[in-house]
Amino acid sequence: MAEYSSHFEKVLNFINIYQELINCHLVDFITDKLWDKCIPEKLKSELESVNTIDDIWTVNSMSSELNNFVQLTRSLSLESCPAVIHVDDLAKLLPQFLNKEQSVRNKLIHFKFELMNAKKSYEIEVLGKLIAEMALSTNSLVIDAGAGKAYLSTYLSEHFDIPALAIDSSQVCQKGAVNRQEKIQRRKQSLTKVRYIVQELNDTTDYNSIVNKNYPDWYLNKNLILTGLHTCGMLVHSTIRSFLRSKDINILFIVPCCYHLVDESLSGNWNFSKNARMLAQQSIERSKHNKHVSPSLFYRSVLQVVLHSMGRYNAKVGRGGPLDNFADYAKWALSKIGIDNKQIPSVDLLQQIYEDHRHFEPKLRLFQMLRIYISSVVEAAIMLDRIIFLQNSIQCSKVMIVRLFDPTLSPRCYAIIAIK
Ligand SMILES: C[S@@+](CC[C@H](N)C(=O)[O-])C[C@H]1O[C@@H](n2cnc3c(N)ncnc32)[C@H](O)[C@@H]1O
Repeated sequence: MAEYSSHFEKVLNFINIYQELINCHLVDFITDKLWDKCIPEKLKSELESVNTIDDIWTVNSMSSELNNFVQLTRSLSLESCPAVIHVDDLAKLLPQFLNKEQSVRNKLIHFKFELMNAKKSYEIEVLGKLIAEMALSTNSLVIDAGAGKAYLSTYLSEHFDIPALAIDSSQVCQKGAVNRQEKIQRRKQSLTKVRYIVQELNDTTDYNSIVNKNYPDWYLNKNLILTGLHTCGMLVHSTIRSFLRSKDINILFIVPCCYHLVDESLSGNWNFSKNARMLAQQSIERSKHNKHVSPSLFYRSVLQVVLHSMGRYNAKVGRGGPLDNFADYAKWALSKIGIDNKQIPSVDLLQQIYEDHRHFEPKLRLFQMLRIYISSVVEAAIMLDRIIFLQNSIQCSKVMIVRLFDPTLSPRCYAIIAIK
């Protein structure tokens, strides 16, 4: 467990050194001179000697400062944290839960009729089987927090006959879940053990009383598992706090997402800006796969020059503009934010402004690449903050981060497991 703390310390040190690069916004790349302001001198001069950037993801093979930087970010990501567990090693570490029900892992499940897309099927199969084994070996009821359409709960009930409480604050999700359940049941002619609840969960939610109400025959005796697939924003912190408060929830197994929606540190060790949290949402694997940086990022940073010249400093433009040429994009953006047609610069002038700043484009791409490498470090900080908090609570016999999914299939791939 000490390894999480020492990794966390190193991560926070790195973030402190690179805070300007982390906290900035690409929109301001040209107007705030971010290239000069945020990149350390040595790295900057090395990057400036790179002429062509056909493939920004292989540029590191050419330069040593950049290589060092990339290696450092890699070494600080969760993937390199020695205490982070790979899903395949989980059974060895939790033999009391994951060795008894081998049949669960070996069970072949056909997803053809489950009304889920490929990504979701993959996630449900990986997480669902582990939760099923844990629930069966401890005779537990599963609480699926932020259940959405209750894919996980339905999976547990349909395939393993496990009682599951699917809770979501959204009425729309609940309706979708019930519709889906009815279709599956009609096809399979089975009875469900899922109960759907529409409720906003928070730090003080009384899960015992929800269980009592929906499963009156369930004898509560440290036999609840609290889980959630892509538990978003503050719901992660609520589930962690509820787990620690409730004596009957024995296992917590959540896969967090939407880091940008959380503005609180549980351990009290960091205070990240919205831009930093947005950065944590990036995925190196996805960016490598897609290779190019969207032209809209550069267009938006040139547009910022136009906006500043018009005295507009806080315009929110959003996405969806035409990306064939800058002038069309700029006209679309300026009219979208309510600039009078007569005030919109001519196509020629817009195009001239674009040409005048075009030399910034390769730099912006490199800059974005550096930030994407950093994203995994910020993600590490956010996840480790939660682990350190659970660790410090001293109620848990085991606390761990698990690399649950293949990040190319599911970028938010890390789970938190805590056992009392
Ligand atoms: C990213 S979705 C995941 C849904 C589902 N677990 C899945 O994987 O398909 C997060 C869900 O959490 C729900 N949610 C967010 N905050 C919540 C809260 N405080 N209480 C209950 N549900 C919440 C949202 O309505 C949304 O359906």
